Amino acid sequence: MSADIQHDREAIERPSRMTCYAAVRSLPQDRVKMSRVFAFPDSETFNITPIRGLVKFYLSRSKISIDPFARNKRWATYTNDLNPETAAQYHMDSSDYLEMLVAEDIQADLVLFDPPYSPRQIKECYDGIGLKMKQEDAWRTNGWKRERKAIAQLVRPDGFVISFGWHSNGIGRYHGFEIEEIMQVCHGWGHNDTICMVEKKVETLQGGLFTEAA
Ligand SMILES: C[S@@+](CC[C@H](N)C(=O)[O-])C[C@H]1O[C@@H](n2cnc3c(N)ncnc32)[C@H](O)[C@@H]1O
Repeated sequence: MSADIQHDREAIERPSRMTCYAAVRSLPQDRVKMSRVFAFPDSETFNITPIRGLVKFYLSRSKISIDPFARNKRWATYTNDLNPETAAQYHMDSSDYLEMLVAEDIQADLVLFDPPYSPRQIKECYDGIGLKMKQEDAWRTNGWKRERKAIAQLVRPDGFVISFGWHSNGIGRYHGFEIEEIMQVCHGWGHNDTICMVEKKVETLQGGLFTEAA
């Protein structure tokens, strides 16, 4: 390879590395706690030992909490799950349920946000209760827009949301949240990690500087 070509390559690579470092630096490392742990998978997310510990820790510091996808856990003050066979208090669609709580002026200091992680998981849930999954239902994992908007209204300033999934989007800065803690749970080969995002509501950011993509 000629020196010129080598030089050009470095010129192309260098900015991309710089961009990458800049992105890393934009996370306030001194404040955001990041950890990676191993734990065996479980269909009930909160049965996974380190996740259970994380959820219990934040629950112990909250007075009013909401779990719109609770399955059989009645740990939060308000619990819901679409599946009527589960132990949750309500069996409504998550968006209708959260908007109902908004209409009732409920203010919580913790929301647990553990929805189906993929269209396949939505389909399994719907099939299990005899509901037909429509195209727009499959798209819900691509943002959970109504749910995140309602959650942003339900959480009081300095309150927390813990989101679980295969990504680290969380509720986001557009809705006034800052990342507090990220726990990545590795389940071994053949399984996706579970990413647990703890975000804190910082009211001054709400609806302000940030775009939906942020
Ligand atoms: C990932 S699981 C939650 C597991 C729970 N956090 C636990 O630890 O057992 C997702 C749950 O969401 C429920 N669900 C699926 N679609 C829903 C919807 N549109 N509204 C409310 N609940 C829904 C499913 O029945 C399922 O129990």
